[in-house]
Amino acid sequence: MSDFPLSAGGARRPLSGPRRALTAGALGVLGVVTALAATLPANAAASTLGAAAAQSGRYFGTAIAAGHLNDSTYVATWDREFNSVTAENEMKWGPIEPSRNSFNWSQADQIVNHAVGQGMKVRGHTLVWHAQLPSWINSGMSASDLRSAMTNHITQVMNHYKGKVFAWDVVNEAFNDGGAVGTLRDSIFTQKLGNGFIEEAFRAARAADPNVKLCYNDYNIDDANANKTRGVYNMVKDFKARGVPIDCVGLQSHFGNPPSNYQQNIAQFAALGVDVQITELDVGGSGSTQADAYRRVTQACMAVSRCTGITVWGITDKYSWRSGDTPLLFDGNYNKKQAYNSVLDALNAATPNTSPSPSATPTRSPSASPSASPSASPTRSPLPGGCSATIKTINSWGGGFQSEVTVQAGSSAVNGWTVKWTWPGGQSISSLWNGRQSVSGSSVTVTNESYNGSIAAGGSTTFGFTANGTAATPTATCTSP
Ligand code: XIL
Repeated sequence: MSDFPLSAGGARRPLSGPRRALTAGALGVLGVVTALAATLPANAAASTLGAAAAQSGRYFGTAIAAGHLNDSTYVATWDREFNSVTAENEMKWGPIEPSRNSFNWSQADQIVNHAVGQGMKVRGHTLVWHAQLPSWINSGMSASDLRSAMTNHITQVMNHYKGKVFAWDVVNEAFNDGGAVGTLRDSIFTQKLGNGFIEEAFRAARAADPNVKLCYNDYNIDDANANKTRGVYNMVKDFKARGVPIDCVGLQSHFGNPPSNYQQNIAQFAALGVDVQITELDVGGSGSTQADAYRRVTQACMAVSRCTGITVWGITDKYSWRSGDTPLLFDGNYNKKQAYNSVLDALNAATPNTSPSPSATPTRSPSASPSASPSASPTRSPLPGGCSATIKTINSWGGGFQSEVTVQAGSSAVNGWTVKWTWPGGQSISSLWNGRQSVSGSSVTVTNESYNGSIAAGGSTTFGFTANGTAATPTATCTSP
């Protein structure tokens, strides 16, 4: 591996960036504004998330699944509250190009056309990702074949949505969890194309559309100092220095709590000259704890002018991909939760975004749609004081599936848990949340995160994962110390 593992070629140049200083003149203007504000009525607070975000020049979006568009309350809530949308699954490679160079636009178009009709923004998600790939992308392909498939996919999909999508997640989740700074996740892309596949994808995306923002999107890059975050930071810095087109970083932000340095993290990416977007926000929990976490996320974005918008990963808890965590702003009956109010208040409190970011940087220098297939592993009754775990299939598609695992405490509270199972048929986890995994052959061990280790007697928590292979629900064991 070369000195600079993410590079697909080209020399490195040092970065030099302008620094802004608050001048005495600016302070003088501030004084006048304060005096005026005291004599004028305060801005009326907006009553919906989208309108409140728009006051500071930002958007507030949600993920939408085409399969729920027949739920009229779902659509009415979407139209009323949000001014941006991300297709939850419909633009992913598997669903949209189920066989090679033959595109199935209909579900994604349904979402996009509705959004455009409502004057909403559309975030494109996602062009190159190791998960939810069509089965025709496989290890039998040669490097040059995969490269041309990737370029064609990027070009066709971006052309189809040209002028409608304002930002694309060009590459999603390419970095490894844990490990040394800058290590990429093992995938068909790294195996065939090497680490330079990210740069190749961004260059192909810019060639396809010079007027759209090109984003790198990932989870667990919320902590300013985490190794994974540092890896993405170094990549963006290098791309900027070498003129590789990149305009934004997406923080998925699937968590139980934002790290204390979350705002600092947004600011450090913005300082590299890219926009930051919170792209898949959902926060497990309930009541004031959840509301507080949502408030801190929203305030962190509002505090950084290049944080241009927030997308929550769904509208109602009942359709959430991690619905067991009740992570969204509306409950299963579309009632606004406490978290909704804390977000709305934080959006309303934001000062106008004075430096809106420029548009995209010019070129410088099997059936793949997810289908619900409910099936669950048998539950073992927990020993008194112990815990049990049940694996349930939430979604499956050609070559992959998503599962939710419920960890249930017995008759006494649990403080820390470990869940283990063995895959029956070569399955492998591609991404896991709300837990830490270690894998040895077909055996998987998942332990709690710092925030979900404690479960009250009789209570439960969940973690989830997406995996490659045929959906399976092996029996899982749970132990607690
Ligand atoms: C999830 C969807 O919400 C589920 O419906 C699907 O089963 C799996 O994918 N990171 C991403 C999103 O970038 O695309 C994922 O969406 C959640 C994690």
